[in-house]
Amino acid sequence: MPLPIRIAPSILSADFGRLAEEVRAIEAAGADVVHVDVMDGRFVPNITIGPLVVEAVRKVTKLPIDAHLMIVEPERYVEAFARAGADLVSVHAEVSPHLHRTLQAIRAAGARPAVALNPSTPLSAIEWVIGDCEMVLVMTVNPGFGGQRYIDACTDKIRQLRALADARNPALEIEVDGGVKPETAALVAGAGANVLVAGTAVFGAPDYRAAIDAIRAGAEGARAAGGRR
Ligand code: DX5
Ligand code: ZN
Repeated sequence: MPLPIRIAPSILSADFGRLAEEVRAIEAAGADVVHVDVMDGRFVPNITIGPLVVEAVRKVTKLPIDAHLMIVEPERYVEAFARAGADLVSVHAEVSPHLHRTLQAIRAAGARPAVALNPSTPLSAIEWVIGDCEMVLVMTVNPGFGGQRYIDACTDKIRQLRALADARNPALEIEVDGGVKPETAALVAGAGANVLVAGTAVFGAPDYRAAIDAIRAGAEGARAAGGRR
């Protein structure tokens, strides 16, 4: 059974002055997950938000919250994000040398553990913890900013990750983040991804429902046309 396609709008591209309204709007428009981009100005050049904003988002939606931590020493903060209401917490492999311990800490805090990989980070970084992850996030742009172009080389990486997961942890979800729009949604879903993050393609569109439907149709169309998952 293929894993269901889930669309995860990233609030990075939302209007922060009207954040509650924006989150309610994507929920009403058919989003499956709220993706929250946490940046510290060290691991990535940009600075965004912390657990307080996750707590505020938690109060206005029933959707699962996916906290993508683009911060150094993420192990210091995973509990705070779980306590703030994140259902899933992803940490970057590049900045968490004791990844196995960090993943256990996320689970112990009551959230689903995930690992994120930069475009240049090889899949071998998660090879020995893939069984401890609920999801692996494949970055398809260099993290830090919304609105960048999808890096084509990542499609093969997703395909290889799906094969590794099928062998070692078939329930593993594969999330793709960066440059997702209907055309690239087809590429990534055809390669085996099932959770699609989209910032600009949703919040930059005049009609959120039409934007989410178009991304979902791109992904599901690729599956119907012969993508494996
Ligand atoms: C980038 C973030 C993404 C970003 C995606 O560092 O992790 O979640 O919001 O934005 P788009 O969809 O505009 O590429
Ligand atoms: Zn993200």
